Amino acid sequence: MARVLVSARVPGDAVARLRAAGHEVTSRDVDSPMPREELLAAVAGVDALVAMLVDRVDAELLDAAGPGLRVVANVAVGYDNVDLSACRERGVVVTNTPGVLTDATADLAMALVLMTTRSLGAAERRVRTGEPWRWSLTGHLGTGLRGKTLGIVGPGAIGIATARRALAFGMEVVLTGRSEPDPAVVEALGARVVDLAELLACADVVALHCPLTPATHHLVGAEQLRAMKRTAHLVNTSRGPVVDEAALVAALEAGEVAGAGLDVFEDEPRVHPGLLARDDVVLLPHVGSATVETRTAMADLAVANVVAALGGDPAVTPVGG
Ligand code: GLV
Ligand code: GLV
Repeated sequence: MARVLVSARVPGDAVARLRAAGHEVTSRDVDSPMPREELLAAVAGVDALVAMLVDRVDAELLDAAGPGLRVVANVAVGYDNVDLSACRERGVVVTNTPGVLTDATADLAMALVLMTTRSLGAAERRVRTGEPWRWSLTGHLGTGLRGKTLGIVGPGAIGIATARRALAFGMEVVLTGRSEPDPAVVEALGARVVDLAELLACADVVALHCPLTPATHHLVGAEQLRAMKRTAHLVNTSRGPVVDEAALVAALEAGEVAGAGLDVFEDEPRVHPGLLARDDVVLLPHVGSATVETRTAMADLAVANVVAALGGDPAVTPVGG
């Protein structure tokens, strides 16, 4: 019987299915993730770890687990929290959850596009203050999307799904990324592939959909923000450190960009106080994939990976070769 640690509460019957597969499962019955010390203690001697994106899977954790650990199933599409080379050195298979969260995350990106371009966060806060408000022809004016350009940075599955939604709103799409997107997909979108400099110069909304890697850390900093239109908005549903948050605050203060919609932050759950103070930013607590359907599918896929790897089969969605 293999031992599996599930480091957080997961929706659906994922834990039951691990038990049904004959594994001994330790899981958590509260919503909050395991504090580091607790995780390091709980992981000792396990064969598999179902990890959350807030769990840092590094050499320290792998050593705490010991040599029996065979698979780390990250319940996220991003795996910047996992030290892949430390896993590889120890023969630990790493898996993620691509595909199942594409629509939920693209929906959320589009929600942030709408929220930031229409200042809906500020409008909603105004209603809640309880102060009397009256309709006016010139109050709460945002900007429309039809005819505007959405710049997608990172044209992977989520970026392309966001682009498809933007088309339905009458937007034009430009794409940039490390790898060339499928030309047929680009053509179907009526999109153009450009370099980052051109994208920043022409986009009315810049949406970030790239993974966090050393190459994308602070990809959007002071220089890139200055290169954006003063009327443009930035939307980030990828990973916080892709944006230099202090530079974003400075750019907003200087009027170099018009607003931002952020689902992720550089040092979660901390949010830069300069962002909290501003009415022209929309701030969400990393909820891109947070629907019942999607989180259940993510947990199910992570469990399928664990069951396959422990059974000696190839993992369903392995990462990092
Ligand atoms: C969420 O942020 C994910 O990477 O799945
Ligand atoms: C707005 O409420 C309108 O009726 O135009």
